[in-house]
Amino acid sequence: MSETNFLPGTYTHQPQNGSVSWRSPSNIALVKYWGKHVDQLPKNTSVSFTLSNCFSETTMQYRKKDGAGYDFEVYLDEKREEGFEPKIGQFFDRIKNYLPFLEQYAFRIDTSNSFPHSSGIASSASGMSALALCLMSLEREFMGGELSEEKFKNKASFLARLGSGSACRSIDGPLIVWGEHPDIEGSSDLFGIEYPFDVHPNFSNYRDTILLVDKGEKQVSSTVGHGLMKNHPYAAVRFEQANKNITRLIDVFRNGNLDAFIEIVESEALQLHAMMMTSLPYFILMKPNTLEVIDRIWQFRNDTGSKVCFTLDAGANVHVLYPDSEKEVVTSFIGSELTQFCKNGSFIDDKAGTGAQSL
Ligand code: PMV
Repeated sequence: MSETNFLPGTYTHQPQNGSVSWRSPSNIALVKYWGKHVDQLPKNTSVSFTLSNCFSETTMQYRKKDGAGYDFEVYLDEKREEGFEPKIGQFFDRIKNYLPFLEQYAFRIDTSNSFPHSSGIASSASGMSALALCLMSLEREFMGGELSEEKFKNKASFLARLGSGSACRSIDGPLIVWGEHPDIEGSSDLFGIEYPFDVHPNFSNYRDTILLVDKGEKQVSSTVGHGLMKNHPYAAVRFEQANKNITRLIDVFRNGNLDAFIEIVESEALQLHAMMMTSLPYFILMKPNTLEVIDRIWQFRNDTGSKVCFTLDAGANVHVLYPDSEKEVVTSFIGSELTQFCKNGSFIDDKAGTGAQSL
C-alpha cells in the first residue's frame, strides 16, 4: 500500500454542521519505536499492547464555513487550550491532502483524558488517535457512509501517525504492529495493523500497572529524542536489534514463553534509554526511583518465580507488566513494595484492551 491509497474518497454529502465523538486509548510498546525519517515513518518495526483505562475522549463539532484557511479552537476539560493549537495546526497541514474538507469547516475540538494531565503519561497517542478517528467519522459522513470498516481504521491509523507516530497503534487492540517487517505480511510503515498471528492465552488480558514515579514535564520531547537518532553512533545496530526482537516475539506470542517475553521486553526498555544516554547531547529520563522499582521487580522475580516485568516509555514512570493469572499476587507486591517509590503513592491500574470506541 502507498500514500495514494489514503487520498480522499468521493464526497456525496455536505452536512452544514454536526458533531462526532471518540474514546481512544493509549498504548505501551513492547518493542520500541525510537528513530524516524520523513513524515513520521519509523526506522524499525514496533509492537504494542493497546491499553484500556488510559484514554482520551474527543468531541469534534463542525460547522460549514466560507473562505480558505483553518478555523478551529481546542478545549481541554472545557477550558480553551491555545497551547495545543499550533500542534493541531501542524497536524492539519500534514493531512490536508488526505482530508480536503479541513478548510471548509470551522471546528471546536473538546478533549479530556482519563489520566491526570500532569501524570507524566503522554497523551499524544490517545489524543491524536481520537482526533484522527473523529476526522474519519466526518469523512465517512461526507461519503454517505460508503467506507468499509477496514479502510476506515487503516486511514484513521495512517492519519494518527502523522499526528504522533505511536498514535497509529491506538486504533485497535490488543496487539498492534507498526512498521514493515519481512516476517509479518501486511505490516506497513504507513499505519498500524492488528498482530496477525496466534497469541497464546498467557497474553490474554495482560496487566499493566503504571507507577507514577515522576509527574514532571519531560525535559526532552520525543520529537527531539527521535531526531537525536539521526547521527547516533549505535542507530543502525539498534534498528536491527528491534527488528530481530520482533522475530523472536512472534515465537514467544505463539508458545507463551514468559521468560523469553520478559527478556525481550525489559531489554527493549533498557535499549531505548541506552539510546538516550548515548546520544549527543545525552540525557537521562529515569529517576532514582525508576531504578529502585526495577531492582525490586528483579528481586521479587528471583524470590518468587513470578513472571512480572517492567517496561519504560520516554520518561521515568514504570509500566509493570504481568499475566492476568498473577493479578492478586502482583497487586499485593506493588502495594507493599513499589508504591512507596511513586509520587504521592499514585499509580494507574490498566490492562490490554481492544482499541478505540465511537461515543
Ligand atoms: O509517538 P512519539 O513520537 O511520541 O514516540 C513515542 C516513542 C516511545 O513511546 C518512547 C516508544 C513507542 O514505541 O511508543
